[in-house]
Amino acid sequence: MALRNIVERGDEILAKKCREVKEVNDHIRMILDDMLDTMREAQGVGIAAPQVGINRRMFIVEVDGETYEMINPVMLEQSGSQCEYEGCLSVPGLYGRVERPTYIKIAGLNRFGEPVEYEAEGFLATAFCHENDHLDGQLFIDKAVDICTPEELMGEDDMEE
Ligand code: CO
Repeated sequence: MALRNIVERGDEILAKKCREVKEVNDHIRMILDDMLDTMREAQGVGIAAPQVGINRRMFIVEVDGETYEMINPVMLEQSGSQCEYEGCLSVPGLYGRVERPTYIKIAGLNRFGEPVEYEAEGFLATAFCHENDHLDGQLFIDKAVDICTPEELMGEDDMEE
């Protein structure tokens, strides 16, 4: 386990469509361990592999004490609409509101290569969508409205990763 450098906006890896994980092996599990450490150290609620310089389709979301590791995720369903503030470890110092579904169902593989499926609503749904976007080279800031700094956001609710 180790901390990895977080890639910031402007690095081309964040704009790339990531490749599928072909085999979920010890190397992949080591990267996931490092991603988790790195995310927690930075006090994020989500991190995607390209954010630590790895071009592979996997991410972690950690909300309300639950940790979700997703490899080769596929969005199965989404419905509703919400538009709450988000931030990103790769876009330090900026927040903005992004339109997202209020409900999603997502499937993928866990760290043992076993199929997993999650349903999520509200903030958790936003977190899954945000991280899933990273795998297609999309950053929240490119589709956000009301972009602001943390100081400007103070007094408002819902600061999200
Ligand atoms: Co992000």
